[in-house]
Amino acid sequence: MSSTTNSDQMQSALQESRKFPPPAALAAEAHVGSPEAYEKLYKESIEDPEGFWAGAAKEMHWFKPWDKVLEWNCPDAKWFVGGQTNLSYNCLDRQVEAGLGDQTAIIWESEAVDAKGKPTVLNLTYSDLLSKVSKFANALKKLGVKKGDVVTIYLPMIPELAIAMLACARIGAPHSIIFGGFSAQAICDRVNNCESRFLVTADGGWRRGKSVPLKKNADGGMELTDRIETCVVVKHAQIDIPMKDGRDIWYHDVVTDASDVCPAEPMDSEDLAFILYTSGSTGKPKGIMHTTGGYMVYTYLTSKISFDLHPGDVYWCTADIGWITGHSYIIYGILPNRVPSIMYEGGPNHPGNDRFWDIIERHKVTKFYTAPTAIRTFMKWGDAEVEKHDLSSLKLLGTVGEPINPEAWMWYREKIGGGRCPVVDTWWQTETGGHMLVPKPGATTTTPGSCTTPFFGIDIAVVNSDGEEVPTNTGGILVIRKPWPAMLRGVFGDRERYIDTYWSKVKGMYTAGDGARKDEDGNFWIMGRIDDVIIVAGHNIGTMEVESGLVSHPAVAEAAVVGYPHDIKGNGIAAFVILRGDIPVGEEAEKLKAELAKHVAKELGPISKPDVIKLTDALPKTRSGKIMRRLLRDIAAGVEIKGDITTLEDKSIVEKLQKR
Ligand code: WTA
Repeated sequence: MSSTTNSDQMQSALQESRKFPPPAALAAEAHVGSPEAYEKLYKESIEDPEGFWAGAAKEMHWFKPWDKVLEWNCPDAKWFVGGQTNLSYNCLDRQVEAGLGDQTAIIWESEAVDAKGKPTVLNLTYSDLLSKVSKFANALKKLGVKKGDVVTIYLPMIPELAIAMLACARIGAPHSIIFGGFSAQAICDRVNNCESRFLVTADGGWRRGKSVPLKKNADGGMELTDRIETCVVVKHAQIDIPMKDGRDIWYHDVVTDASDVCPAEPMDSEDLAFILYTSGSTGKPKGIMHTTGGYMVYTYLTSKISFDLHPGDVYWCTADIGWITGHSYIIYGILPNRVPSIMYEGGPNHPGNDRFWDIIERHKVTKFYTAPTAIRTFMKWGDAEVEKHDLSSLKLLGTVGEPINPEAWMWYREKIGGGRCPVVDTWWQTETGGHMLVPKPGATTTTPGSCTTPFFGIDIAVVNSDGEEVPTNTGGILVIRKPWPAMLRGVFGDRERYIDTYWSKVKGMYTAGDGARKDEDGNFWIMGRIDDVIIVAGHNIGTMEVESGLVSHPAVAEAAVVGYPHDIKGNGIAAFVILRGDIPVGEEAEKLKAELAKHVAKELGPISKPDVIKLTDALPKTRSGKIMRRLLRDIAAGVEIKGDITTLEDKSIVEKLQKR
């Protein structure tokens, strides 16, 4: 995200005064039904987090109760220590045992429609799902998968994806799910990183009327690494694929004779539940680790409260299960809440641009969760697509993934929600496991563009690099000051990276890597990734803005701006500038630098004036043409270049820049 957008958002945010209190009917029935109820419970949850989380955990099944709610040794948290539970059990068995086996757990819909335009829909009850999960769990065991073995899953959005992850959870094999859009190289890197010996994939999936050749990519991945010993293949897209003898085996063959009884393995609360890779700024994938008990309780409770789930709801999250949103808010948090969760395989524009609205109308969706980028696309496609459908079943709308601009927020509320549904803007990360900043739909007055206030037990603040809270409406670093149950437990195989990335910027606090401000009502406004924002003397300076300021000078062809540690201002601004003509030397160079600094000060204000300008004839870029800012940051700080530079196109540039 660019910092130009950040500052735009800050401006529009400052001008934003529209406020929407919770709808009275929803508030009357809500789990948290008034601002006072939220304030009271929030206060309790902060003063006594252990008591609060123990209460939440008791809503779930434990094979063995915990001895201790929390063990905190910064940056290592252990939740529900000594307790034993199972994610798959809490998603499935518990509902069946409560006599709800015949209720729908997952509604799966495929993009494909028949000649009459009728889509393929499959309703899976808790009993159906339990039996399918148990069969596949037994099959995995027979194939040699043991507790603790990492199973890589590379599947489209088909029921077998939900089945495979729940089967892994059932037998205590952590899964590593790779989004179906990733390439052979990405599969290989991830398989190597977590030393996974098992892969579950499919012949292909469907996207916008075409099949996507998943097995072909998986084969490519398996050619690049020889770690995979067994590859289970789901037949789904009916594509002809080669099956390698001794390694590849059909899903339907392994489940046919498998028993549909497979007791869930009691897992220690802190046993690894899954690894999910995020790309991170160095390009090397980071395996984010989540464990069992804390993640389970947190995703359950956030699902219940953020979406205000009740019997009778039909819930649809449009994310892919390959992302954390799908892990937490299609499967693990939703199934224990006993509301049907829709899984849709395909694009939003097949066969027409109204496919999503058609799905909402047919299934009478009540709670809908999607991303701002999708909302902006729908706006572009026009209101007529929406108006073809009756969306009156909707009661709540959620968003996630990036800051939502007020225009999109208003459109979502008015056009999709008919002006009657609260918009729940959820801020969180793969690392946080679940919602952190989120409106409580029956209690929170919302404002377009703000993700409002913290979830229970979340001690979150906007601080400077010393960890002191910055004044109201001042941008700063978003940190979490106390552990929470679903927090990541580390980066797989890379302790240093865990500490470096999340725990070294502000002492004793988790830094999310996002910039934010808090307004006079206590609402938080996310301003994008910190990497794109420099906080100078408590002011947020967007790097993109300073770059545009420099480029608007006739002598400048290109510029890259980064922050570096500065004794007085916290951060200083360093600009690397490529000129249109030759680089002057000596006094001429100094004169030009002074002129450029003055020019920026005039264009953007004195606070944005670069402290250091380096004139150069080239910038370090990746092969795809992206400026490698982290190298520039190291150069500006005068420290040794850390990290991987294998993706750098021309390595000599770095040495040249260091000498300037
Ligand atoms: C951004 C997705 C503003 C943010 C769940 C965060 C958001 C990153 C929001 C995590 C939001 C996510 N408002 N920004 N509601 N939600 N982000 O790991 O920069 O894919 O740090 O997790 O997305 O992305 P991730």
